Amino acid sequence: MSSQAPSSTEINEPRRDPVGRLLPDFPEPERLSGHGPARIIAMCNQKGGVGKTTTTINLAACLAEYGRRVLIVDFDPQGAASVGLGINPHELDRTVYNLLMERSADIHEIIVPTNVEGLHMLPANIDLSAAEVQLVGEVARESVLSRVLRPVLDEYDVILVDCQPSLGLLTVNALTAAHGVLIPLECEFFALRGVALLVETIEKVRDRLNPRLEVDGIIATMFDPRTLHSREVVARVYEAFGDTLMQTVIGRTVKFPDASVAAEPITTYAPNHSGATSYRQLARELIARGDAA
Ligand SMILES: Nc1ncnc2c1ncn2[C@@H]1O[C@H](COP(=O)(O)OP(=O)(O)OP(=O)(O)O)[C@@H](O)[C@H]1O
Ligand SMILES: [Mg+2]
Repeated sequence: MSSQAPSSTEINEPRRDPVGRLLPDFPEPERLSGHGPARIIAMCNQKGGVGKTTTTINLAACLAEYGRRVLIVDFDPQGAASVGLGINPHELDRTVYNLLMERSADIHEIIVPTNVEGLHMLPANIDLSAAEVQLVGEVARESVLSRVLRPVLDEYDVILVDCQPSLGLLTVNALTAAHGVLIPLECEFFALRGVALLVETIEKVRDRLNPRLEVDGIIATMFDPRTLHSREVVARVYEAFGDTLMQTVIGRTVKFPDASVAAEPITTYAPNHSGATSYRQLARELIARGDAA
């Protein structure tokens, strides 16, 4: 026997995700020859601070890197998605709010480009907080977003709607417009609290308003592989939701808040950081699952 025989760690062991599923190398997506119609994905969790906006920005930037034409709909009056991509929504005269409330508003005049090629933004600011109340009296008040997005569906491959942390009328509008929902879930103890209510809301919207709606995936965020705790949370999510749990998990790193301060996606702020690699993998996984063009 040669002493040069490889040790077991040198043999190429297949990679596994945190719950033990084989982790394939999701293929580099093929370039698209044309664009549209868009698949609309709502980024949704009524719990605050779980990574909805961070995932919207970085997943969108990665899809754009892969040649997809992507629109982010900032659907949170805080305007965090807009700010996170360098747009100051408080200086804007017109935002998604005007589009929802004024029938004459033209979506093309409200969408703004970002510094990421192929990525556009429908911005929001604090005005949007009034929409929740004002929409209540509208006819078909749940499908206003769906209606106003219609003119641009053929111009994008993916539209990501960054929801606010609530299950109110704006979020119901996002779910009514969407083909799919992505649920970011922070890897901490009470992560699963509230998910049942979210799933119930999604099912109600599917039954009453939008039969095509599906849950595309749950994304574990702020994962720390060194703690048993993080691994336990992911295991519990897998137990409850099976393969709805995406294989890609997003690690906890200060590079994300740093990138937000710099108003850039992590893919340009720290292109070689593991955080950027993870969101690229998430984009490839989503495309491989058939949930994005
Ligand atoms: N993987 C991560 N590692 C470390 N920090 C993160 C990570 N993802 C997000 N953060 C930070 O956590 C905070 C909350 O994230 P984010 O704004 O994306 O959550 P959210 O669900 O959109 O919050 P809200 O419900 O308020 O809209 C932000 O400061 C963000 O920079
Ligand atoms: Mg947010």
